[in-house]
Amino acid sequence: MTSEESRSRVWKDNSHPRYWWHHLPGIDYVPPIYSELSEAEWVTLREWYDETDRSGPIGECAVPLISFLHGLVMGNRIGRIVQLGTCAGYSTLLLGWMLRRMNARNGLFSLDHDPAMCEMSRRWIVRADLEDFVEIVERSSLDAGSTTAARNYLGGEPELIILDSSTNISLLWQNSIFGMRRSHQADFSFFTMSAVSPRNSMSHAKAASGGRLPNGGKCILTWKRFR
Ligand SMILES: C[S@@+](CC[C@H](N)C(=O)[O-])C[C@H]1O[C@@H](n2cnc3c(N)ncnc32)[C@H](O)[C@@H]1O
Repeated sequence: MTSEESRSRVWKDNSHPRYWWHHLPGIDYVPPIYSELSEAEWVTLREWYDETDRSGPIGECAVPLISFLHGLVMGNRIGRIVQLGTCAGYSTLLLGWMLRRMNARNGLFSLDHDPAMCEMSRRWIVRADLEDFVEIVERSSLDAGSTTAARNYLGGEPELIILDSSTNISLLWQNSIFGMRRSHQADFSFFTMSAVSPRNSMSHAKAASGGRLPNGGKCILTWKRFR
């Protein structure tokens, strides 16, 4: 079997909980987020997994969320993205490669308040040759100054904001409401809710926003499945 054919299918036999998606019944194919990568990109991602398997941290979004973002971003040529919560850089790398395919320079402004996460993900962005497309900054998503910094880097208002910087629901809403009210005028906002059931996420979202964001933008709500 060549690398093209096997790729992420090798993780079906890896019992680590982070590979939960690959253990699901019927998952015996390579999802488009991985099959579209060049061989060099795929090798980089494998090495990223090898390193984080050994030393952590493990907090990345998994195949369903990044696949959704893949369709949203590449289907609409979204070229100005803010990501709140970089962690070790999994979705930052994959989004960076999408932006490179679309030739959308200065396309992703990703922030994390943890200096170790910023250092690690920056190192991987350099290794993936994505410096022209991605900026990683050590900042809090609750800091109002982050919105100005994001706008300056992107050269305009973000078209998409990915909120993935907290597992605390009230903080998450603070992020979104403060962020959107203060300055973000994104067309789409993508919420990820960790470790909460879909039912709770939905009712919380409806109660908090009435299904609309303060600026009238679209709200896409999803959730993560962990372990
Ligand atoms: C779930 S992880 C992000 C996963 C990442 N988006 C991915 O797909 O690989 C959440 C990250 O948010 C960061 N974080 C939590 N609160 C934050 C805040 N107020 N400002 C910035 N980053 C924050 C944490 O340090 C952590 O690295």
